[in-house]
Amino acid sequence: MTTKAYKGLAMEGPIASWYAKITLKDIHRHQLMAARMVKHIPSGGRVLEIAPGPGYFCIELARLGQFHITGLDISQSFVEIARKNVAAAGIRAEFRRGDAADLPFEVESFDFIFCQAAFKNFSRPVEAIAEMHRALRSGGVGVISDLRRDASAADIQREIKGMGLSRLDELFTRWTFHTVLLKNAYTLDEMQAMVARTPFEKCHIELDGVGFLTWLEK
Ligand SMILES: C[S@@+](CC[C@H](N)C(=O)[O-])C[C@H]1O[C@@H](n2cnc3c(N)ncnc32)[C@H](O)[C@@H]1O
Repeated sequence: MTTKAYKGLAMEGPIASWYAKITLKDIHRHQLMAARMVKHIPSGGRVLEIAPGPGYFCIELARLGQFHITGLDISQSFVEIARKNVAAAGIRAEFRRGDAADLPFEVESFDFIFCQAAFKNFSRPVEAIAEMHRALRSGGVGVISDLRRDASAADIQREIKGMGLSRLDELFTRWTFHTVLLKNAYTLDEMQAMVARTPFEKCHIELDGVGFLTWLEK
């Protein structure tokens, strides 16, 4: 078992700031996702977002109801950026630093756990899923949303075009998709096989544009 927290490039300092800037242009993605997820969270529910980055999903979710929201990210830069972003939005959510594969929370702490565009970066993905199971209450739901490795070049082009980026950011983003992201991404079968190595017994995977949503129920 490796103890390396990051798979690939660490998202700290200027890389984190650049990511926060370009993904803000695509805030609609978080608004749509929050509207989809909110139906699965009880009012007053305890929510954990693993690897929230700049915290945009947490902010959009908090606008839709009364929840206790926590974000946990391995990047100290993102923890600081997310704290600033929620304060600026007038939203209450806590952010702390930690590893998805070693969650610093008690058993059954959350009603809902979400993880988006990050799972492929985890160096210990099976442990991360098992940790979601441990931290969810019985009957709680976990969702992993990420890119799928078999997304076509045309699908990716469409996705990038919809992000509202400048030409330069678009070029760099396309390069990142093809050289880094797709290489790390999983197929649906690989996701299913990883979940099967954890205590989750209820799992279904839904295709979602260039990615998939893995629904897990404890
Ligand atoms: C591409 S960003 C996605 C951020 C956000 N979820 C979004 O949709 O924009 C990937 C995130 O995964 C985080 N990350 C990578 N490895 C991690 C780990 N082992 N535990 C927690 N967070 C991790 C990074 O710091 C970064 O915030």
